[in-house]
Amino acid sequence: MKVAVLGAAGGIGQALGLLLKTQLPAGSELSLYDIAPVTPGVAADLSHIPTDVKVTGFAGDNSAAALEGADVVLISAGVARKPGMDRSDLFNINAGIVKNLVGVCADICPKALIAIITNPVNTTVAIAAEVLKEKGVYDPARLFGVTTLDIIRSNTFVAEAKGLNPADVNVPVIGGHSGVTILPLLSQSGVTFTSEETAALTTRIQNAGTEVVEAKAGGGSATLSMGQAAARFGLSLVRALSGEEGIIECTYVQGPGEKAKFFAQPVLLGKNGVEEVLNYGELTAFEEAALNGALDTLKSDIALGEKFING
Ligand code: NAD
Ligand code: LMR
Repeated sequence: MKVAVLGAAGGIGQALGLLLKTQLPAGSELSLYDIAPVTPGVAADLSHIPTDVKVTGFAGDNSAAALEGADVVLISAGVARKPGMDRSDLFNINAGIVKNLVGVCADICPKALIAIITNPVNTTVAIAAEVLKEKGVYDPARLFGVTTLDIIRSNTFVAEAKGLNPADVNVPVIGGHSGVTILPLLSQSGVTFTSEETAALTTRIQNAGTEVVEAKAGGGSATLSMGQAAARFGLSLVRALSGEEGIIECTYVQGPGEKAKFFAQPVLLGKNGVEEVLNYGELTAFEEAALNGALDTLKSDIALGEKFING
């Protein structure tokens, strides 16, 4: 199994590289690419960790060599937020970066599972889909927006609030990955909340990225928790590709389109990527209202990405 990380010298990329080097199955390959010249050095550094995972590093303008034979591509290349910015403020720079990198994926590893971390995810995934369509290789089962950070945050915050072990909590998070489009289904967490607790926890989960951006005070956004989230998601893709059954992750995919063309919800993963987009179940009145209030934003985020490619 070969996993490529694009943006590998960045805050997320380095944390992710470390987790993959130590957790990928024996015999795997980890291919690191970034425009930053330090990238072969990051690969050399990781290669000294004694696991049976071969690491290679590529820097410069051309990502093609890193993508040769890739089964899974995780993309975190791009700029991160500073205090006062919204994720949508990253669009101007990150849209072009995702467009170019996904274009090379289409040429070099058209069958790879591509997971987009780069913000604004609601929009960059739509950009990726349009690029893959233009190249004639789009398979909705093979393109994902990584929303796992919303799930691990929800599990952590619920566990903190109720004095539980976070490992025992599993909160599905649906919708998208910014502000009101992040909708944790606290009613399905197995834990009971008052309506005040539900409202407060929902707001905290929706603002958790901003919490980190403000705490880092201009030094970037979540990298370590995101590295953990991306490693969990990437390893789930690898396990599913390897034939393990029953792997379910919430992720932002093109599904049945009942609510929006791209939508985060639980997905059964398999050898071809998305095996089945699962129903997210009954919503409470609070969750239904929150979802309805988010759909216009989500749809316009998606339309922005499509317009970026199609004009
Ligand atoms: P960072 O600035 O630390 O790293 C980004 C890396 O991308 C840098 O090393 C840079 O050299 C590289 N890069 C820029 N243009 C490139 C290109 N064309 N090709 C290859 N590499 C390129 O940023 P970070 O903290 O790692 O965040 C990366 C992205 O992930 C941001 O857009 C951020 O908003 C996003 N993010 C998403 C989530 C999520 O839940 N999906 C969570 C956290 C951060
Ligand atoms: C996050 O949720 O932490 C990321 O999307 C980064 C950000 O800008 O908030």
